[in-house]
Amino acid sequence: MRPARHAAKLKPFLVMDVLEAAQKLEAAGEHVIHLEIGEPDCDTPECIKEAAVRAIREGKTHYTHSLGLLELREAICEDYATRYGVTVSPDQVIVASGTSPAMLLAFGVLLEPGDGVVISDPAYACYANFIEFVHGRTVRVRVTEDDGFQYRPEMIREKLDERIKAVVINSPANPTGTLLSDKRMQALAELEPAIVSDEIYHGLVYEGRERSILEFTDRAFVLNGFSKLYAMTGWRLGYLIAPRAFVRDIQKVSQNLFICAGSVAQWAGLAALKEAGAEVAAMRRTYDQRRRYLLSRLPGLGLSVKVAPTGAFYVLANASAYTDDSLAFAYELLEKTHVAVTPGVDFGPGAEGFIRFSYANSIENIAEGLDRLERYLAIRGRREA
Ligand SMILES: Cc1ncc(COP(=O)(O)O)c(C=O)c1O
Repeated sequence: MRPARHAAKLKPFLVMDVLEAAQKLEAAGEHVIHLEIGEPDCDTPECIKEAAVRAIREGKTHYTHSLGLLELREAICEDYATRYGVTVSPDQVIVASGTSPAMLLAFGVLLEPGDGVVISDPAYACYANFIEFVHGRTVRVRVTEDDGFQYRPEMIREKLDERIKAVVINSPANPTGTLLSDKRMQALAELEPAIVSDEIYHGLVYEGRERSILEFTDRAFVLNGFSKLYAMTGWRLGYLIAPRAFVRDIQKVSQNLFICAGSVAQWAGLAALKEAGAEVAAMRRTYDQRRRYLLSRLPGLGLSVKVAPTGAFYVLANASAYTDDSLAFAYELLEKTHVAVTPGVDFGPGAEGFIRFSYANSIENIAEGLDRLERYLAIRGRREA
């Protein structure tokens, strides 16, 4: 007996390994500063929790429609209309237990075995694993720090062939926190393959504004969820907006694999969209303060950032003054300073030599973490040129 190759070949999510090593130190009584995990430190807003409790009390605990509660799908459409001026119909929305299962559905219906999907290098670590799990092929397109780690459409064009069915975009992005310009989004929308736009960090933008792919084309699949913007990671709620021609097949797959998303989480999600505006605005202001603080201190630590991130809650800093092995460096920092960061290589070979900081932690903790790193790096010294 052995696990199937398509499962066994998946890469581990390295940030989870770093987190577990950090937790081991904590269990031994050490005080670890967590700057590795991409999870809001704030609690889910009260109005969302109350809606969930109400749903439980009122017995709204049964299976829902397989596409999701109509009320929630209508609210999602209203949100897209208000934020981006686009028209989405509730019958194009498939609610899922997180953005992650929505991603599985999107790639599952888009790809025949061997079909390609373009992702940036670096990109969110799980994209390639999802693509390969449904027997697709990942085509990485290198993006550079001078360019804010964003695609140059002409570099994608060079890679295209008839087997490439989709291009993934993520603006603002994990791990870089940067956004695609309107001009580049327009150029990507004009490419032959469908665009899969992961909009999970929408709403967490501190300068300028994010654009939905649906403002540029309707030949697109939108992934979005409640984990980040509403501090609802553990509730497991997300959705997919798909072109009409795909919805019935997505629905069939979803009915078979998942039946529906959790009913209580869905009622909570409805309250998030309708009632949590003030709490979200407060969280956004807090993240922005931390972002500015982190960016002001990193150069002093010998960690450079060429294009300042303006969204999500990440900074991908160049650590090449110290290392060309980001995984070893992350473990070294954890061991010597008890500060946990994510190795860049988790996000693709294009981020080797970089480390990702998450500022989903209090400003006091960020300050303490940076103080520790500053003291250690001053003693450790840089690598020889
Ligand atoms: C870019 C990106 N997409 C999707 C996800 C998964 O989110 P969810 O909790 O909705 O499954 C994450 C989580 O870190 C992410 O960073």
